[in-house]
Amino acid sequence: MKRIKLDAIDSTNDYLKSLCFSQTLENFTIVTAQYQLNGKGQMGAKWDSESSKNLITSILIKNTLQSSNEIFDLNVVVTLAVVSALKKYKIPNLSIKWPNDIMADNKKIGGILIENTFKSNSEIISIVGIGLNVNQTNFDNLPNASSLKIEMNSDFDIEKLLANIIEDIKINVSVLKSGLVENLWLQYNKKLFMKGVNTSFATATGEIFSGIIQGVSPFGQLIVLLNNQTVKYFRIKEIQMLY
Ligand code: BTN
Repeated sequence: MKRIKLDAIDSTNDYLKSLCFSQTLENFTIVTAQYQLNGKGQMGAKWDSESSKNLITSILIKNTLQSSNEIFDLNVVVTLAVVSALKKYKIPNLSIKWPNDIMADNKKIGGILIENTFKSNSEIISIVGIGLNVNQTNFDNLPNASSLKIEMNSDFDIEKLLANIIEDIKINVSVLKSGLVENLWLQYNKKLFMKGVNTSFATATGEIFSGIIQGVSPFGQLIVLLNNQTVKYFRIKEIQMLY
């Protein structure tokens, strides 16, 4: 397994992606950085992280997804791996906020950005970016953010944490490859933040509505029971949960 340790970089995802195009890399090549100048979050957001305090990593996963229909399976594999690795540290009330935020109680402690490239030979190459708030305690202007240190009142070894996460990702990737991804989906749907609870959402055009989360569809849509008793499927860009 190849490991690249960087001090500072624009974005570990971008770095690994361009490396991938200039040379053949081993599956599970891992890039970590102490600091990102232009860390990327979901939907064009920024991912800020204090230097040396958090886990900032990108992992190359290839030869795993067979078709574009399976894209969300990798979200399930990775979010569950992060949650199961964190469970070993007894972090309380872990859940997954759709599509792939890692929550402790009602605070976000980590996020995942998976970027897939479809090659002409139908191979899918995935860059799995994980940002986990570990030993940072100050989150100015981010009232919904937390970290492992805030939750547990102690410092964490970031390298050990990474090793645990990689181990669990590998286990889940082999579950996916052996055709048993349904088991992971069951766990993912069980761990969904605000499932079964009346929740408010905003549409991309700013409309507010409420409904009860039922689960996530195999294509990654959020399934919501609306107040008029109809069930609607929402894609990632269509709605944002307000909580
Ligand atoms: C999100 O919750 O919006 C996703 C955040 C993903 C952040 C990680 S940090 C390592 C990797 N490199 C990036 O530029 N982003 C991801």
